[in-house]
Amino acid sequence: MKIAIVGTGYVGLVTGTCFAEIGVNVICVDTNSEKIESLKKGIIPIYENGLEEMVIRNTKAGRLQFTTSLESCLNEVDVVFSAVGTPPDEDGSADLSYVLAVARTIGRNMQKYILVVTKSTVPVGTAQKVRAVIQEELDKRGIDIEFDVASNPEFLKEGNAVNDFMSPDRVVVGVESEHARKLMSKLYKPFLLNNFRVIFMDIPSAEMTKYTANSMLATRISFMNDIANLCELVGADVNMVRSGIGSDTRIGRKFLYPGIGYGGSCFPKDVKALIKTAEQNGYQMRVLKAVEEVNENQKSILFEKLQKHFNGNLQGKTIALWGLSFKPETDDMREAPALILIDNLLRAGCKIRAYDPAAMNECRRRIGEGIHYATDMYDAVLDADALMLITEWKEFRLPSWAVIKKTMEQPVVLDGRNIYDKKEMEEQGFVYHCIGK
Ligand code: UDX
Repeated sequence: MKIAIVGTGYVGLVTGTCFAEIGVNVICVDTNSEKIESLKKGIIPIYENGLEEMVIRNTKAGRLQFTTSLESCLNEVDVVFSAVGTPPDEDGSADLSYVLAVARTIGRNMQKYILVVTKSTVPVGTAQKVRAVIQEELDKRGIDIEFDVASNPEFLKEGNAVNDFMSPDRVVVGVESEHARKLMSKLYKPFLLNNFRVIFMDIPSAEMTKYTANSMLATRISFMNDIANLCELVGADVNMVRSGIGSDTRIGRKFLYPGIGYGGSCFPKDVKALIKTAEQNGYQMRVLKAVEEVNENQKSILFEKLQKHFNGNLQGKTIALWGLSFKPETDDMREAPALILIDNLLRAGCKIRAYDPAAMNECRRRIGEGIHYATDMYDAVLDADALMLITEWKEFRLPSWAVIKKTMEQPVVLDGRNIYDKKEMEEQGFVYHCIGK
């Protein structure tokens, strides 16, 4: 079986490479020729555990190819996955211009049956728009070629994407013809054989599933952030509350960690887009609006604690930041709470010394040289009046507090992810602030 994946961004590259790994012949397509040339040489543009070796291995084996021309491979493939970007429009709805451009290219150039699968996160109804655009192009050409559309949303977590693809909780496939169903079953056969759940459904339900999953997870986080803030006021410890409720199997333990707000390329964008879809259909998503509001407030919580600690006097203070990416194991800073925090700190007249194991270049690219980029976590705390833990990278878990205490100007730690123990920190002589206790 041969497939094309359009878009060599995060989702496209992981999907293409993983399909190649399980024996499918894959052509990855991107209009960015620089990117394609690098990929041919095994240089990958993103930081993702295990991906680079896999790209190199499968390219060598001839199962993974890269091209800038979708037109030229349409005759060779049975399925085209569209994994191009859907950036949010100014009003929060998803911009479909890239998705529809792919459909147009397919309609203009296809010579035989193709199944066109949307992998990108797109609003309900997009597959039908893709179908209409392809049909319009075929009509213009005056020819009648059979084709199908399908929806196959991704549930990949950055940093764990290869594993998520290879051992999925489930694969969701929206189809509307028996032929499309057969093709998708063939493609996902190795997963079916390994007893992973491949759930077939209609296309709108598949499109809706993706938004619902991300919105539900975002809701859990905002709910717990709200609970954490209340725990502080009533003298409870949110960690205890979390263990207490997580052991109820109806609730479960995952995604209940309070912090400084969710970020990344999916949750913020998908929550916004679902609110928008509802509005376009004359309905208000009241819960999700509150989820967004709580998240926006939560991004400033650690800064407010810092302000309170220094009685509002932050001018000239040196603040060390550990972690910049929106979560560990990635260099991604999209919607990262660190960006809001840096902005608040600079406005308040603070000097910033930041360190992140992977996201330093990304941070430079986004905000320039207005902060000091430290060489390591210990360099970051040099003469600092406070240390703020922003992203819970593993290497921050067991630091040498004695060294840090000597290096800092004042022993103040604000832990945005609750990874340290309050009692232990106080025994080490630190003033310690965290979330929800
Ligand atoms: C998410 C979904 O998990 C994935 O299925 C989807 O396809 C894409 O979006 P990702 O954005 O990579 O993946 O990150 P994830 O690990 O889900 O974390 C999202 C955000 O939530 C991070 O900012 C993280 O710090 C935050 N989070 C997560 C919490 O604040 N508390 C938690 O308990 C869990």
